[in-house]
Amino acid sequence: MVLFGATGDLAKRKLFPALFGLYKAKKLHADFRVIGSGRSVMSDSDFTAMVRHSIETFGRISIDTEEEWTQFISHFSYISLDVMNLQAYNALLALVHTKEKEAGTAGNRLFYLAIAPNLFGPVASYLKQSGLTDTNGWKRLVIEKPFGHDLASAEELNQQIQQAFDEEEIFRIDHYLGKEMVQNIEVIRFANSLFEPLWNNTHISNIQITASETVGVEERAVYYENAGALRDMVQNHMLQMIMMVCMEPPSRLKTEAIRDEKVKVLRSLRRYSEDEVPKYIVRGQYREGSMQNHKVAGYREEPNVKPDSLTETFVAAKLFIDNFRWAGVPIYIRTGKRMPRKSTEIVIQFKEMPQGIFFNKNGVLGPNLLIIRINPMEGMDLVLNAKKPGTDDDVVPISMSFCNNCGQETPEAYERLFYDAIQGDSTFFTRWDEVSLAWKFVDPIRRAWDNHPETLCYYEAGSFGPVESEKLLQQEQHNWWNVS
Ligand code: BG6
Repeated sequence: MVLFGATGDLAKRKLFPALFGLYKAKKLHADFRVIGSGRSVMSDSDFTAMVRHSIETFGRISIDTEEEWTQFISHFSYISLDVMNLQAYNALLALVHTKEKEAGTAGNRLFYLAIAPNLFGPVASYLKQSGLTDTNGWKRLVIEKPFGHDLASAEELNQQIQQAFDEEEIFRIDHYLGKEMVQNIEVIRFANSLFEPLWNNTHISNIQITASETVGVEERAVYYENAGALRDMVQNHMLQMIMMVCMEPPSRLKTEAIRDEKVKVLRSLRRYSEDEVPKYIVRGQYREGSMQNHKVAGYREEPNVKPDSLTETFVAAKLFIDNFRWAGVPIYIRTGKRMPRKSTEIVIQFKEMPQGIFFNKNGVLGPNLLIIRINPMEGMDLVLNAKKPGTDDDVVPISMSFCNNCGQETPEAYERLFYDAIQGDSTFFTRWDEVSLAWKFVDPIRRAWDNHPETLCYYEAGSFGPVESEKLLQQEQHNWWNVS
């Protein structure tokens, strides 16, 4: 495994802890080797100290004994590399050969690009030119997001990497697909005869997907100013969750059968013209506000953000999937920074009873809801109506709850994804046609906003977003479920 960007933030926060988690779970081959590479010049011992620090700081599993640590870290080495210099890859190739001989890894090579996106294409092509992709074993490329900036740049990048790797060898990461409860969606849907008959426009009133975050832009303004919430969250994570919730059952539980069904959802997702965008999509930017009784700055006051920035930190949208199953069912999505809580959840709201015979004290009966909690709480709640104990006809909502991560820690998304990539299972990675369709959906929205700066709304940090996001649902007499 060659890890490009080994001294970077992602490697420290996610990748080393994930590797250690897999090692502890005995999911790595006894003779695996990891070569970390980065721009900095660093001795092997400084590198191993950095890996240890990252596991101790960010890992969910702790190092038990010195012996365990020595064993684990003996699989690692480091090489300093200027990735834009083709000559430098010779030293990497030599090190790979040495490690392969030492460990007898049969020439299986996994290249992980945890580096700046503008380097993805050049690195893939240098891997080929330097001979690193010539191997008797398998070769794979794991590539982080963002995959392009729009359709044109994504196509260009794809062409570049496909000169060195075949589509089956490319593992495009969307870490949401590694989340336990995102993977659980298909099980909940297709392993329960209770839900599947109701999973359509006859019985479902609307679907809501919220990914709210309390953090602001932090130190990522340089990236975020050009990305905004649309490219950062909607183009990938939000659309992936829509696909998982709305796909048809696959004919078999096989990678391509599942991905084929997912991609059909994107094909049926209604694309909005630039003129339609304001009617269906709201974007917002946070202003100064208060989070847990602390004053926080507005987006424009954050370090490295332009004082007149028009970048959105919030998006809410009303979407439709124009197929038999979902015709007429609004799919509301909402994501933003500096919202009151960190949570990702999916709410399926079922239709009302055809005729009301029971009522609660306010004269209305709440709808049945299925709440799928993605993170940080993982689980599911089914909200039903039942008689309040001791009354004759006061009907109240009751909740049947399942918690997936109470009393046990579930594996981090990156652990699952790393493991799958090593196994060669690309089910929970994004295929090229998914990426390209996602950009085809997103690009006109971006253009509409770039041409109409006045469409940017504002919200106070610590709130659920601009009022315009509420209005989006009111047209259909719906409201956001702010479940906690
Ligand atoms: C990343 C985005 O892909 O996902 C971040 O770049 C965002 O801006 C993050 O904070 C959210 O992921 P999670 O797993 O914390 O919900």
